[in-house]
Amino acid sequence: DMSETSVEAKAAALEEIEKEVLACERCPLHKGRTQGVFGEGNPDADLVFVGEAPGQEEDRQGRPFVGRAGQLLDKLIHAMGLKREDVYITNILKSRPPNNRSPAADEVEACWDYLVRQLQIIAPKVIVTLGNPATQTLLDTRTGITRLRGQWQKLPLLGEGLAGIDVMPTYHPAYLLRQYTTENRRKVWEDLQKVMDALGLEPPGES
Ligand code: URA
Repeated sequence: DMSETSVEAKAAALEEIEKEVLACERCPLHKGRTQGVFGEGNPDADLVFVGEAPGQEEDRQGRPFVGRAGQLLDKLIHAMGLKREDVYITNILKSRPPNNRSPAADEVEACWDYLVRQLQIIAPKVIVTLGNPATQTLLDTRTGITRLRGQWQKLPLLGEGLAGIDVMPTYHPAYLLRQYTTENRRKVWEDLQKVMDALGLEPPGES
């Protein structure tokens, strides 16, 4: 149980896994990547965002969510009254799939244990899953994001200590960019406000 572990110990434990990820050859995606993208942020974060997989810009920089979708995620994080450094951001896959196609089942399987170990170390209070692959993988369900978003879920027993963590599924920011409607923006903001309530966060300017 890492919930009482110091932030320094958590950072060191995450660094060890990052080294493994950067050298990982468990699935064929390592052949096409520039570098692995492990994840970044506060090792002791209450809130973790989980996306799908690195895209082109993430593969180039070695950091998660730094392309267009990442810029939108940053805006959402700021709207919650948080900074990027306050939260932790990672993906289901740590290597970029060719042409940004969806993760394949065997790739998710190969990468899975890295995410489980990250979550065990960070021990967040809330996980926000972004889009279908992250939501369905973490909740071990085939139900789609349209039905699950905005409703609190509990993490199943993916690994020791992980069962029961609160999960809020919401739309992926890349989807939001493609379908930038008032309706979709309102839905995502409602979902994130539920997260703010759960974490006792107030929007900037209202404290
Ligand atoms: N989309 C994702 O799912 N993850 C990233 O890191 C960037 C874009």
